[in-house]
Amino acid sequence: MVEVGLRGEPITLVLWEEFGTTTLHHPPHRRRFPIVSDHLPRLGGLSEPEKYERLVERVPGVWWSDTGPFAGLHELNQVRVEYFRHVFGGFGGKRVLDVGCGGGILAETLAAEGATVTGIDPSEKSLAAARQHAKRSGLAIDYRRGTAEDLGGGGLEGTFDLVFAVDVLEHVDDFDRTVAGIARVLAPGGGLGFLTHNRTIAGFLQVIWEEEYVRHTMPEGFHDFRRFITPDELTERLGRNDMVLQEMKGVARAGDGSGRRVLTDDLTVTYLGWALRTR
Ligand SMILES: C[S@@+](CC[C@H](N)C(=O)[O-])C[C@H]1O[C@@H](n2cnc3c(N)ncnc32)[C@H](O)[C@@H]1O
Repeated sequence: MVEVGLRGEPITLVLWEEFGTTTLHHPPHRRRFPIVSDHLPRLGGLSEPEKYERLVERVPGVWWSDTGPFAGLHELNQVRVEYFRHVFGGFGGKRVLDVGCGGGILAETLAAEGATVTGIDPSEKSLAAARQHAKRSGLAIDYRRGTAEDLGGGGLEGTFDLVFAVDVLEHVDDFDRTVAGIARVLAPGGGLGFLTHNRTIAGFLQVIWEEEYVRHTMPEGFHDFRRFITPDELTERLGRNDMVLQEMKGVARAGDGSGRRVLTDDLTVTYLGWALRTR
């Protein structure tokens, strides 16, 4: 149990990690700040694809806007692309899969740098936004509807030099099937680039509590703490599926108010990294 003082009001957070549930208690008589953002829909209780359908419906242009819930993804994109470009020696000429591509933020950068890109996502409205934006950008990207869990069932086995799963592993319904699916579509010797959130109290406070309930930069219910993944869990699942972890780095805000992200050695909140498929 964690006691958090906020604007002078004590809020009690009860994290029942061992039982797999997270409960927020806001003493109602003491609530003096808005708990629900007035411009973002509440997403709690919806399935993952429904969350994105609802968000795109209610906030048109959300994927490519400089403001709003996905502005942070654009900020993150700079540091993650720089990192992946370095560890994979560039993207040019490579066959790349962007799993859970959403509106195509990463997919477009990869395509612009010469990769042949396929993007898959279960959210039809996000894919529509991605296709429309790629057309305007003059980029040819093969966007397909599908889930990470079902990868490898559509003739894509062993197809890709690189697979990216950024900001998506903590959203999938079945983490084990997702990692197995990624392994199936990677060519032997191919690389996986990932970015996800750690299931720690710091991860909860920063990614869920602060973003969804205090600053309201993300809709309430966007993240499910139970789906956050520890570095050990990820390393173990990769190993079980013939993928060997090469490196992990923490991702943090620069601290200069710019929104710029920097890499650190602290994996307690958000972390990225890469793995190689051994066979
Ligand atoms: C936070 S967004 C990240 C989008 C994109 N990867 C990026 O970083 O710009 C998460 C995306 O994962 C997708 N998603 C959710 N469940 C999924 C699943 N089971 N398989 C593949 N994608 C999924 C959502 O539809 C959404 O587009």
